[in-house]
Amino acid sequence: MSVFEMSILLIATFLAMTIVWTTLRVGISPMPSSAKAYRAMLTLTEDTGDGAIYDLGSGWGTLVIRMAIKYPKRKIIGYEISLLPYLVSVLIKFILRVDNLTLYRQDFMKVDLSGASVLLCYLYPDGMSKLASLIHVPAKNESCSSSVSAASQLDPKPLSHMSDAQCGCHPDFIISNNFAFPSLKAEQDIRLDDIYSSPIYRYKLKSSVS
Ligand SMILES: C[S@@+](CC[C@H](N)C(=O)[O-])C[C@H]1O[C@@H](n2cnc3c(N)ncnc32)[C@H](O)[C@@H]1O
Repeated sequence: MSVFEMSILLIATFLAMTIVWTTLRVGISPMPSSAKAYRAMLTLTEDTGDGAIYDLGSGWGTLVIRMAIKYPKRKIIGYEISLLPYLVSVLIKFILRVDNLTLYRQDFMKVDLSGASVLLCYLYPDGMSKLASLIHVPAKNESCSSSVSAASQLDPKPLSHMSDAQCGCHPDFIISNNFAFPSLKAEQDIRLDDIYSSPIYRYKLKSSVS
């Protein structure tokens, strides 16, 4: 085997191992949404205004790139922690010149989500519970101190320990592939025409939107 071939093999092995490592760390692989699922999610964003759309765990870019192409005037953001899927999505973004899309290789649990109008996710039950700890369902006057953590509806605890970034996460909509958001009732759901009749849920958090 030549040095070149050996280098390619080592790089490929390293990248494959980063996928395994990240999957074990975050609890879900970078499996993309199916074509039926991303089409349903695209449909469910249609009457969500013109605010920023965040894909929490944007994987290979399957969904977030299509979102950015569908809404060239909206700000679209993807957070992905797994190295190889992130690099592939950045490459596709540059090839297609999708300028309204920004991709970050970051843990979405540790970033400021206050700019999000729509949150997209395809996680897993425990991931949805963790996400619920960041989201605040607005109370009547919609201030942080009077808002209610979606998770705290399941497990009440004081809000005083929460950071400003956490208090600031108050999206208008959450759209989730396959996994329900704890403690909230979906305003809409689409059942996919697949063997599991997989659900896509949409939660509306603010009554004043659309
Ligand atoms: C099932 S994939 C979904 C990919 C894409 N959203 C789609 O619908 O095609 C879930 C992705 O979330 C990523 N992920 C999970 N937890 C994360 C976290 N805390 N921060 C950033 N990415 C995360 C995983 O690495 C994985 O790529």
